Amino acid sequence: MFTRFIAFIFAALLALQIGTGAQAQEAQITDRSATGGAQTLADILARQEGLKIDDSFRSDNLGGTGGSVPALGTRGSASDPDLWRAIRYGKADAGSQTNGSLGPVLIQDGGMAWYEFRAGPLSSYGGYLLLGTIAALALFYILRGRIGLDAQPTGRTITRFKAFERFSHWLLAGSFILLGITGLASLFGRKFIIPLMGHEANSTLLIATKFIHNNVSWAFMLALVFVFFLWVWHNIPDRTDITWFAQAGGIVGKKHPPAKKFNGGQKIIFWSVIVLGASISASGLSLLFPFDMPLFAKSFALFNDLGLPQMLGAGELPVALAPQEEMQLAQAWHAIVSFVLMAIIIAHIYIGSIGMEGAFDAMGSGEVDEAWARQHHSIWVDEVKAKETPAE
Ligand code: HEM
Repeated sequence: MFTRFIAFIFAALLALQIGTGAQAQEAQITDRSATGGAQTLADILARQEGLKIDDSFRSDNLGGTGGSVPALGTRGSASDPDLWRAIRYGKADAGSQTNGSLGPVLIQDGGMAWYEFRAGPLSSYGGYLLLGTIAALALFYILRGRIGLDAQPTGRTITRFKAFERFSHWLLAGSFILLGITGLASLFGRKFIIPLMGHEANSTLLIATKFIHNNVSWAFMLALVFVFFLWVWHNIPDRTDITWFAQAGGIVGKKHPPAKKFNGGQKIIFWSVIVLGASISASGLSLLFPFDMPLFAKSFALFNDLGLPQMLGAGELPVALAPQEEMQLAQAWHAIVSFVLMAIIIAHIYIGSIGMEGAFDAMGSGEVDEAWARQHHSIWVDEVKAKETPAE
């Protein structure tokens, strides 16, 4: 199961392999004659250190229970270690009388690997990504300063976003910020809130946090659909984007490349919000309706058929996943993609507020000064003016 998890993480985010590197080390060969072949203290200690144990002394030691056994019933205080070991290593031909996808899964090894990934690499790399983005923006602000208005304001304004566009944007922004804060609280509560405020406070906070996160998600998904239909037409890549990127968007230096309603950089923000937002929504729905919307086995089968993991030099991705594994992967994916989108959005918030003079008005009142519009979106201004001027 652990290798399966690594296979997925490798395909999702190369960097996350780093945190698991130490566990590839093999433990020393252990003499088990003193325990009659059972595990020793050295085995237990090695496992606690995260070393890889050669489990064959257990998986090959199944007594007489390698073959078929009748459906498992209640066994009271009786326990059969041979049987349970065989179940654990997938070698017992045991049946289950429970219906549904969860019943037949008696032992699921992946929980610990998932827990360690969530508490380890996910939290630390995710945290570094957000803090690193904030630090990079602070440095950029110190070096470049606020992007100002070159010409004097004309006093004439032009409508940039209509009321429904602004409503959709703020619904998307408000819900995303709430989801981000509550998501981070549930990931980091154990690490930061418990030491500061104690278990009781963390528990109360997380109950509220979960309620907000689960319910506000609907507003985010609705706003995502609105924003997509409102702006998709203006975000189709075209030739003006090449000029815009060639001049680094005017962010470095004093040039202001011509742009339509949205420039190349904004198109990247738009498509990141749509694609990553849709992926976060899909994995979020899978978590909201546990075990009802498994996504990964089907996606992995599709990727294998397309040859994607093979192209990256990895083996085939696992296509037989236990329901719990589906949930673990949904959580990991949901959090990884959310961290990436949060980093992008932090940069967007910067440029839409303190980073650029006059930008906020576009989403605040919806009206921008003509001088601002000409400086940043010259082609769009010409298009708007052409529509306003009645045909001769
Ligand atoms: C306090 C937070 C935010 C501020 C101050 C802000 C500000 C702005 C401004 C001023 C614009 C218009 C830019 C223009 O006139 O060209 C804009 C556009 C946009 N915003 Fe935001 N925004 C915020 C949060 C968000 C969030 C959280 C999302 C998505 C999750 C988002 C997604 C977008 C998109 C897709 C656009 C259109 C493309 C673009 O201009 O980059 N915004 N925002």
